[in-house]
Amino acid sequence: MKADLNLLFFIFITVKVTLPLEYCSTDCHCDWNIHSVSCFGAEVMPVFHSSTQEVWLVGSKLSSIPQNAFANLNNISHIYISDDDTLRYLEKHSFHNLSRVTHIQLTGMKILSYIDQEAFKDLPNLRYLGITNTGLTSFPGLQYIQSSQEDFILEIVENAFIQVIPANSFSGISKNALTIMLNSNGVKEIQRYAFNGSRLEEVYLHRNVDLEQIDEFAFYGVIHGPTHLDLSETKVSSLPSRGMETIEKLQAKNTWALKALPPLRAFFHLQSAELTFPSHCCGLKLLKRWRGHSEAVICNLTRIALGKRQESSSALSKGHPGHKHLKDSFGRPTAGTTNHNHYSSGPIYPSEQSEIEGLFYVDLPTEDLSEGFDFDVMSKGFLRVLVWVVSLLAISANLLVMFILLTSRQKLSVTRFLMGHLAFADLCMGIYLLFIAIC
Ligand SMILES: *[C@@H]1O[C@H](CO)[C@@H](O)[C@H](O)[C@H]1NC(C)=O
Ligand SMILES: *[C@@H]1O[C@H](CO)[C@@H](O)[C@H](O)[C@H]1NC(C)=O
Ligand SMILES: *[C@@H]1O[C@H](CO)[C@@H](O)[C@H](O)[C@H]1NC(C)=O
Ligand SMILES: *[C@@H]1O[C@H](CO)[C@@H](O)[C@H](O)[C@H]1NC(C)=O
Repeated sequence: MKADLNLLFFIFITVKVTLPLEYCSTDCHCDWNIHSVSCFGAEVMPVFHSSTQEVWLVGSKLSSIPQNAFANLNNISHIYISDDDTLRYLEKHSFHNLSRVTHIQLTGMKILSYIDQEAFKDLPNLRYLGITNTGLTSFPGLQYIQSSQEDFILEIVENAFIQVIPANSFSGISKNALTIMLNSNGVKEIQRYAFNGSRLEEVYLHRNVDLEQIDEFAFYGVIHGPTHLDLSETKVSSLPSRGMETIEKLQAKNTWALKALPPLRAFFHLQSAELTFPSHCCGLKLLKRWRGHSEAVICNLTRIALGKRQESSSALSKGHPGHKHLKDSFGRPTAGTTNHNHYSSGPIYPSEQSEIEGLFYVDLPTEDLSEGFDFDVMSKGFLRVLVWVVSLLAISANLLVMFILLTSRQKLSVTRFLMGHLAFADLCMGIYLLFIAIC
């Protein structure tokens, strides 16, 4: 049965070949059903038949991807190049004017160190670009891609020598939202305006174990987003306070250097956070309470201001919820608003979205707490109760002592004066403990 099929297949192939419709390079395997060509160990760029839709180049020994290498392939949609130990650079227009390409992946190129600014150019349907495990030393210029696809995914991971993400790295890639995976690179610094001019969805920066600095203005100039930011297992010690307002999910697990978070008002839409230090969550829980309080008042005002225009989602404006600049007044400075610090004063006005979802939970990395980094004694139930008891005792007993000392009619001796001092100091201690315990 199988043999028959093979025979049929053979005849089919022979017929095809004798018709010379479909040509397949040596070293390559062609599957004409899906118009896929896989080549192994090619030393020069193979010639592909013009109907090819999918190209796999595995273990080839090219030194560069020449200009317009795929230009005669009108229907090409997927290009995968992997494990090429001799590929050094991508020339100008290596991937140029390929109107149907949706996926390009380059992976496992130890000595690939240069990508021309215009190597990826005019790829209007590109949805995925992966550059993985290469020897690149600088962030590739991708601004000529100009994709118009929704939900573009850019995956630049495991490039140990990329140390800096410079300004405008992501502008021009796509008109629409981008998901950016930059995990496991050697990134040390994200410079100001790095994300300028892009629409961001999710930004993954985890496992950049040398990443120490994110410029205060790194997210300045983004058109929208990000909504999800992952900084787990990095060395960042601070987050920019600008650009955090659209974040709904923040991850910073095992980010031990991140001791302080920006002012809570910077996290306007935050709904969930995974953090290293539970004390941060304390602050975020306060934020929730704060929001919960303002929601009842403010959202009502927002509703009134909006009337039936439910679609205007981010409705808020400085001090005057009924103000006419309702739509764009949060986030970037726009023509209608005078300054971009307007969220730094006055109460917070939640958007309708946060009102509807109303949820705000904080996931504590509880399993990590036991490993010598136990910064938060209070999170353990028993100790917490104990602290409550101790602080309440301290407060009441010391108040009593002070009350007696102050109201008794005896003369104020040195001993009694010192006792008063002690009681006062201890009272302060008790109050302090109580504050900690409340969080
Ligand atoms: C490209 O695909 C279309 C159908 O999607 C087909 O009609 C056309 O012949 C293909 N072009 C080539 C060069 O094979
Ligand atoms: C891009 O490709 C199309 C055909 O797909 C062609 O007509 C056009 O001239 C090319 N443009 C450039 C700038 O090469
Ligand atoms: C930010 O991007 C815009 C275009 O998207 C550009 O005009 C502007 O010069 C960029 N700003 C900086 C500081 O690079
Ligand atoms: C919200 O507004 C409605 C009328 O539009 C009013 O009946 C309601 O009591 C208000 N709620 C709060 C919490 O102010």
